[in-house]
Parts: sequence; C-alpha cells; structure tokens
Amino acid sequence: MTTHKKLIAGNWKMNGSLAANEALVTALRQGLAANAPACDIALCAPAPYFAQLQSLLVGSPMALGAQDISAQAQGAFTGEQSAAMLKDFGVRYAIVGHSERRQYHGETDDAVAAKTAAALANGITPIVCVGETLAQREAGQTEEVVKRQLAAVIHVNGHCISEIVVAYEPVWAIGTGKTATPEQAQAVHAVLRAQLHHAASEHAAGIKILYGGSMNAANAAELLAQADIDGGLIGGASLKAPDFLQIISAAAR
Ligand code: 13P
Repeated sequence: MTTHKKLIAGNWKMNGSLAANEALVTALRQGLAANAPACDIALCAPAPYFAQLQSLLVGSPMALGAQDISAQAQGAFTGEQSAAMLKDFGVRYAIVGHSERRQYHGETDDAVAAKTAAALANGITPIVCVGETLAQREAGQTEEVVKRQLAAVIHVNGHCISEIVVAYEPVWAIGTGKTATPEQAQAVHAVLRAQLHHAASEHAAGIKILYGGSMNAANAAELLAQADIDGGLIGGASLKAPDFLQIISAAAR
C-alpha cells in the first residue's frame, strides 16, 4: 500500500475553446474553494491554451500539464514544443507516450523514453503511459506489453526513475465506457510496481501509478481504493466540472 497523495490528472485531448476552458476552470475553482482537495491535480490541456490557462490557474491548487513534449531541445522540428517552451508557461506535467500518440503518430518505445528524458531534464514531471490493446489482452500479452513499454523508459532514465509518474491505460478502455475492473487494474499496477521496485528499490513505493480508461464519477472510488492505484488520468470525465470534482473527492478518501 502506498501512502503518498494521489494525483488526479485531466487529459482534455483535442477539446476546448477559450470560452469553454474559462467556464470549466471557473467551475472547478469554485468547487475546490468550497472543499480543499487532499490530492494533487493537473489539467493537461492543448498547447495553444497554455497562456490562457496559466493565468486562469494562478493561485489555484491545479497544475498545468501538456499532452506531449518534444525530445529535442530546439531547432528544425516543425510542429513540436520543447520542454523549455512548456516551462515558459508554467507547465509542470507532460503526458508522454499516450496510446493515441503511439497509434496515430507512430511513437515508439524509444521515442517515449527520449521524451521522458527531455521532461525530466527540465523539471517537468512526465506522465508515462503504458497499456495493451484488446487483441494483446486476449492473446495473454498484457504483462509482456506493459513491461516492455516501461522497460524502455527505465533503460534511458534509470538514474531518476523515481521522478516519473506512470499511467496504466488499457487501450480497450479508453473512450469506450469499458473500464478495467478494479481487480484487473490492480493486477497490472502490481506488475508495474514490481518492475519499478527492481529499478528503483526503496523509491518504488513513492512512484505514482495512475489508472486511465473510462474512469468516471461512478467508478473512481473503487478503482482508487486499490493498493497500487495512486490516482487517475481522466479523459472525457475531466471535461465536465461536476464529474471531475467528484473524482477529486474520491481521491481524497
Ligand atoms: P477516457 O477517460 O475518455 O476513457 O480517456 C482516458 C485517457 O485516454 C486519458 O489519457
């Protein structure tokens, strides 16, 4: 059982607008003012809104996060954002290796490891995503897949592995309304914890392992009660203030 504060991170994906972001953050701030959170909170927003969110989040307990980060420091990398650019806007977390980036942008395990290194070198906490597809689960490959994905990150970042956050996101549970059962999720989290323990020994218990995939206001408490589930990475439900606030309350218990 881990004892540190949980982390609830919203992944807005490619959603939002100036008006919608302001309404959402205002509602979240109101909800949190009434009931101070006992967990860490991050909002991983689309990059064009970083300036807006940096000012909307001033004085709030919510940290700004990015959904990706370049492995490169600067130069001819059209479309990419460097860690230094993210830092200019007060970004504290960066999702790395989300399955949508692995699937639609061909991100390899090596690329994910390099992006993790870039985040760590710049004091941004990487939220490293791992997870199996439905076909891989049905073929009994879940453990092998997530271990391979995490091993690549450990291989490159072993010396500061205690600074990362891991997110287990079974691909078949993302945006499908099909959540892993608490037992299924806990089983994979325990595998990841053991792997981290091997890499970081006494620090492994302090590394947060989040669950993501159709986590919502109704199922959050049960998932977050599992021994090795240290928080959530939430897509759809993070866009609705009442739902996200309920998940935050569930993490405080
Ligand atoms: P949903 O919560 O919409 O299933 O998305 C999960 C996710 O991919 C978070 O990164």
